[in-house]
Amino acid sequence: MDKIIVHGGAKLTGSVRISGSKNSALPILAATLLTKEPCVISRVPDLSDIHYMLTILSELGCEVERASGTVTVKAENVLTEAPYDIVRKMRASICVLGPLLGREKEATVSLPGGCVIGDRPIDLHLRGFEALGAAVRFRSGNVKVLAPEIRGATINLRGKFGSTVLGTDNVMMAAVLAEGTTVIDGAAEEPEVEDLANFLIAMGAKIEGAGTRRIIIEGVKELHGAEHDVIPDRIEAGTFLTAAAIIGNDVTITRAEPKHLKAILDPLSQAGFLISTGKDTVTLRSNGTGHPLKLETSPYPGFPTDMQAQMCALLSTVDGISVITENVFPQRFMHVAELKRMGANIELQGATAVINGVGKLSGAPVMASDLRASAALVLAGLKAENSTEINRVYHIDRGYESLDEKLNALGAQIERVKV
Ligand code: EPU
Repeated sequence: MDKIIVHGGAKLTGSVRISGSKNSALPILAATLLTKEPCVISRVPDLSDIHYMLTILSELGCEVERASGTVTVKAENVLTEAPYDIVRKMRASICVLGPLLGREKEATVSLPGGCVIGDRPIDLHLRGFEALGAAVRFRSGNVKVLAPEIRGATINLRGKFGSTVLGTDNVMMAAVLAEGTTVIDGAAEEPEVEDLANFLIAMGAKIEGAGTRRIIIEGVKELHGAEHDVIPDRIEAGTFLTAAAIIGNDVTITRAEPKHLKAILDPLSQAGFLISTGKDTVTLRSNGTGHPLKLETSPYPGFPTDMQAQMCALLSTVDGISVITENVFPQRFMHVAELKRMGANIELQGATAVINGVGKLSGAPVMASDLRASAALVLAGLKAENSTEINRVYHIDRGYESLDEKLNALGAQIERVKV
């Protein structure tokens, strides 16, 4: 198991190219199950979560080829049961349910277990499948969905914590091959949902309104092969900009999509960091100090939960009192105890973190608990005095392509040690 040692204090300067979005690529790869013809997906990031998804597709019978960032999948004949051993490693495996149900009228996947970022039910996904005419059965830790035929319906996917991203993806993927029209109200508006819809449209699907709260899908008889370029990863982009804010100097992110970054750029700018955007670039200039903020996470276009931990790291070093409320995953604060071990002054009040900025953090051995929490510890380590040793870095490799190498190219001093 690798660990990462961050030697703090080195300022960041230069430019870094943003990878394709993990959270777009995962459902898009699952959507290749909807056609027998080959699909070619480009700008697929090299991450362990992507590797799990490609393994699931192979186990389901697909021919999968990968050449650097381009993946070709041909799903001529598919099985309908995803193997537990791989599914258990990644919650996003759940998004093979929709395409398999749409194409084969049945699918079985192990139920995702608990997750360190909180309770992660799939009731809304299942509610959507039921509305399309599927029966849902639970047995031996698996969920099976099956339907004699998939019929279009009007479905509301809004839950207690807002809309569901993978739930919207799943229902959209099942509905593209349904008989008749499906209307998804309370749909997730995330750019990753729109990216999936654009790929489905390239395959011959009829979809309107993706990226808004109401998606309308006219079922078609079959889909064909297509090519697609995955959108830039807005959370990776936000993580690099926050790294620049925390330690200072100028950093430019390239091959990014500034219009997806508004909810991240606005608070960074409010905190006093200078931001300029180009067509596909964003530059952040920092002298390593900023103003405190009051923020809350919410579904897109709000401030993303996937940036909350990194923002906690930044605000821990900003003079004054900041407040961050987590509305999407109210228990997603595993990073707080670790940041406190580095000297941060954070008090948790339910789903709200009250952060009293400290002048300096100090390096310590810390434990990565999930993907974004791990990124927050790396960011804190960049600013901290001395060295920060981060264990269990496989969490980082699930969702950041070469985070340590990319930061080192900007001037950071990070070592990866094989243990
Ligand atoms: N929820 C339900 N019922 C459901 C589904 C979700 O109550 O059936 C609740 C969740 O418990 C949560 C809220 O609804 O409180 C939103 O969850 P959502 O379903 O949108 O999450 P997801 O689709 O499982 C994706 C990303 C997450 C990201 C969330 C929220 C992927 C592969 N994952 O998860 O990304 O945090 O949307 O934006 O797209 C990450 O990349 O680090 C990550 C965790």
